[in-house]
Amino acid sequence: MASLLRFHGRVVLVTGAGGGLGRSYALAFAERGASVVVNDLGGDMKGLSEGSLAAADKVVEEIRSKGGKAVANYDSVEAGEKIVRAALEAFGRIDIVVNNAGILRDNSFGRISDEDWDIIHRVHLRGSFQVTRAAWDHMKKQKFGRIIMTASASGIYGNYGQANYSAAKLGLLGLSNTLAIEGQKSNIHCNTIAPAAGSRMTQNIMPEDLMEALKPDYVAPLVLWLCHESCEENGSLFEVGGGWIGKLRWERALGAIVREKNQPMTPEAVRANWKQICDFDNATTPQRIQESIGGIIGVLNKIDSEGGVSTNPTSQASSTATSAFAGAISHKLPSFSSAYTELETIMYALGVGASIKEPKDRKFIYEGSTDFSCLPTFGVIIAQKPIVGGELSEIPGLSVNLEKVLHGEQYLELYKPLPRAGNLRCEAVIADVLDKGSGLVVLVDVYSYFEEELMCYNQFSIFVVGSGGIGGKRTSDKAKVAVPVPNRPPDAVLRDTTSLNQAALYRLSGDWNPLHIDPNFAAFAGFDKPILHGLCTFGFSARHVLKQFADNDVSRFKAIKVRFAKPVYPGQTLQTEMWKEGNRIHFQTKVQETGDIVISNAYVDLLPKSDTSVKTPSEGKELQSTLVFEEIGRRLKDIGHEVAKKVNAVFEWHITKGGHTAAKWTLCENTCVPAIDLKGGSGKVYQGPAKGSADATFTLSDEDFMEVVLGKLDPQKAFFSGRLKARGNIMLSQKLQTILKDYAKL
Ligand code: NAI
Repeated sequence: MASLLRFHGRVVLVTGAGGGLGRSYALAFAERGASVVVNDLGGDMKGLSEGSLAAADKVVEEIRSKGGKAVANYDSVEAGEKIVRAALEAFGRIDIVVNNAGILRDNSFGRISDEDWDIIHRVHLRGSFQVTRAAWDHMKKQKFGRIIMTASASGIYGNYGQANYSAAKLGLLGLSNTLAIEGQKSNIHCNTIAPAAGSRMTQNIMPEDLMEALKPDYVAPLVLWLCHESCEENGSLFEVGGGWIGKLRWERALGAIVREKNQPMTPEAVRANWKQICDFDNATTPQRIQESIGGIIGVLNKIDSEGGVSTNPTSQASSTATSAFAGAISHKLPSFSSAYTELETIMYALGVGASIKEPKDRKFIYEGSTDFSCLPTFGVIIAQKPIVGGELSEIPGLSVNLEKVLHGEQYLELYKPLPRAGNLRCEAVIADVLDKGSGLVVLVDVYSYFEEELMCYNQFSIFVVGSGGIGGKRTSDKAKVAVPVPNRPPDAVLRDTTSLNQAALYRLSGDWNPLHIDPNFAAFAGFDKPILHGLCTFGFSARHVLKQFADNDVSRFKAIKVRFAKPVYPGQTLQTEMWKEGNRIHFQTKVQETGDIVISNAYVDLLPKSDTSVKTPSEGKELQSTLVFEEIGRRLKDIGHEVAKKVNAVFEWHITKGGHTAAKWTLCENTCVPAIDLKGGSGKVYQGPAKGSADATFTLSDEDFMEVVLGKLDPQKAFFSGRLKARGNIMLSQKLQTILKDYAKL
């Protein structure tokens, strides 16, 4: 059986708890372990007669007789400070406030006196404000609070003779909506109920049997649930009565734009569009003010960029498509450079789960590995600056509220394996803007170049919640499309448990959004706790595919496309399910603990093995070091004797590319042909292993060899950092610089 909702250790203040609904709440809270302050000033239903202490006392008596904890308080809710002080004095804290006290001064609108207007507002609206404000700072400090406001169907729908009461009651909803926003980061939740129950308040309007049937006890369970620490509901409105509960929300018609650029807006245009303005087909349900205002700003942009008017955004969607975001599409963001070293590539690899536990991962996390490689998905890190740097909010013709931005999909294509370190120039452009109704999708294309060569291309699909529905096109031929996974059991499944520090580690790669580390920020965004970066899960999944189907050979990685479906919490286990179809590996990623699909409709395209042999130079072709050795060979012919005197040794070189030995070169005796002979002869260089014995054998990558040649990498340091492996007389490495720098000046 599900556990009972308990309130032990919680202190609850219920105002107007001497009778009716308030009494029912107080008894229910006390029964489940809470300490209750029963506030009621006595008084009659109109707030006219003198208060009688009996009402609150009776309820306290009832609670205590059942073994519960309660104290009475007789102050009017207008003296909120005093009531909260009573709670603190009796129980030392305040956790829950149920604003319930109320009176009626019904009259038809023309007959409402100032006094009748004011007292209703003072008791309901001002009273709730006073009590809640007095409790607010305590709740903030303890990072817990639950608040209930009591509205009424009279306020929501209007009711004859209750203009004063309706106004105050819906005022409470406005108050609650804002408290929900301000309190969220301190775990203070505020919700509103509109109850229906038989009480003295309703005895004159409800028939007796209905009074009897609509018991206050049928409202109390909702109040208790909303006030429980495990309830995440915040900023909502519920109608409740007779055992039924339903949530209410706002609905907004798609509406119509009735104005043209540089033209006056006329009442006739409003009349002409009235049907459309009031048509709830395709209505939206905005939940935040940003969604409301965002839509209106979108309209301004649309009128401005289009110069025209769309009287019917849905039917004209395709015709307005090209121009709805004209100012934004093809807009170039400022170009930027992305410089990185082995530090960043290793940090990234660790961030996406490469581990020392897995020997084959060492090439991604140890710069000294002969096959040290940059993970292909590091390509997104190179390109992410405009996305994580807030530049989307500065796109002309587009209103992007960064708080409403979600990373929807990602495409990455590599044209070459990424260098282990480098400085890439990136050009970003808004490829297209799509209107999905519930939001906009902004396609941001980023091209990254190493010198003049295009290394990789990214497409970030950014979803801007709530800014859609203004008539843009829904699809784009520029969009890289996600593809459903095959309908059969996966061919392979790999799992990795993320660490609790996963997001803390991954963010060091440049996405510093506090959503991924700050619990308050996460709560503000509506999550239980900080979530993992979608691109971190993306990195894990890509690693799984690369490991399973390409033996971690980065040169076989061509492209990846993913759709982010759900958040992941650090500590959860990621399970990548993979299907091989030719060189395309379809995949989806699940959280093992919940079974939720977190990355869907994804694939990795691999290069066929044969293609990679072209990419991985063999026999020294395409290696930069080949040119150097050939040059050394030519120079040795001229000045070999002097070199031989200086160095007097035979070296064997193993040059690696992409982790594999790609060429061997030898410097040996002058009788060896072809060779570099530095032992008492004039010196020669030849390709292949030493024909005799080498004094020292050096292994290093083609790139590192070039860095040594160019004087950028000290061979000694390369040796100690593991980038240069040496066998034999390793002290000879001290002479390498002499050989390579002096005689291979390129
Ligand atoms: P009730 O009249 O039985 O209870 C209200 C309590 O508030 C009374 O005990 C009264 O003494 C107390 N109170 C009045 N002024 C106060 C003040 N200044 N300071 C402290 N206590 C004060 O009425 P009921 O039906 O239990 O109403 C509770 C709340 O629910 C009210 O806010 C009411 O407007 C609201 N409501 C009730 C509906 C119903 O169907 N009963 C319908 C919609 C709203």
